[in-house]
Amino acid sequence: MDYTISIKSEACIRCRRCERACPAGIFVWEDGKIQVQKEQFCIRCGHCADICPTKAVTHTLFPESTMHDYALSDLPSPAQVELLLKARRSNRAFTAQPVPQESLSRIIDAAYAAPTAQNTRNIQVVDVTDPQMIERISALTVDTFAHAVKPLENPLLKCLLHKKMAQVYAMIPKLKAMHRKFHEGKGDPVLHRAKAVLFFCAPPKSRFGCADCNLAYQNASLMAESLGVAQFYTGFVLSGMKQDRKKRLPEMLGLKDMEIFAGMALGMPEFRFERYTDREHTAPICL
Ligand SMILES: Cc1cc2nc3c(=O)[nH]c(=O)nc-3n(C[C@H](O)[C@H](O)[C@H](O)COP(=O)(O)O)c2cc1C
Repeated sequence: MDYTISIKSEACIRCRRCERACPAGIFVWEDGKIQVQKEQFCIRCGHCADICPTKAVTHTLFPESTMHDYALSDLPSPAQVELLLKARRSNRAFTAQPVPQESLSRIIDAAYAAPTAQNTRNIQVVDVTDPQMIERISALTVDTFAHAVKPLENPLLKCLLHKKMAQVYAMIPKLKAMHRKFHEGKGDPVLHRAKAVLFFCAPPKSRFGCADCNLAYQNASLMAESLGVAQFYTGFVLSGMKQDRKKRLPEMLGLKDMEIFAGMALGMPEFRFERYTDREHTAPICL
């Protein structure tokens, strides 16, 4: 164990909040006071340190320097949060300007602030800003799709699979057009000449890796929106990566023991959206 947890009895006001807040049940009320038991089960979430009104809980992973007091009134109002959520759009019209490093750092910090299952915090953000690498990622994506659809165009296979795989067949002209456009130098239909790409990675086959990474993505996308940085989800790159048996994308990025579960393309916006429109959705099912 690389930490210790203790209670400063002179500061403890016996409110028992630590007992209520700790997800691992480490704080136990015994003999009229809080006792720390089985601290090896701590999931390092810091709830005990943050919930204590008198800072009576000492957890060595969370020294005073890492604690930040705030009031409810410091948080954005519900109306401000609603506006941010509704104003966040996927914006693929990037200028030639790079994303300022300070903005990128804040976007990445926002990603790491997201919750992770059992607080494993086992995600890794990979920040790609090298223009050549970004171009190689787009090239790999269009090439992978072009290669994957080739056998499907065999007349015999087409006859057999056309009905079963109607959605895939409907995509073929679009995928071929993307390949052509990219290789004729008529633009980048995959990453839209993004100036940065963030990949959100977790250990391979981890049970909640995909959820952890996509929650991190969403935090990052909201921070990007509030900083005036344009971004969109790189679904094409991810599905190309899944098609590619040779696993060239992780290899290109030098990723070992990490799987990519989400991706974000970023740049400075050529224009801002002037308004938001109400999004269609189904009614919630209320039980
Ligand atoms: C899982 C997922 C994959 C996506 N993949 C892409 C993509 O590859 N390229 C792209 O331009 N947009 C992609 N998007 C963005 C969606 O097209 C976008 O969210 C949708 O059109 C609604 O627009 P909005 O984000 O502005 O609300 C993706 C979004 C999600 C959630």
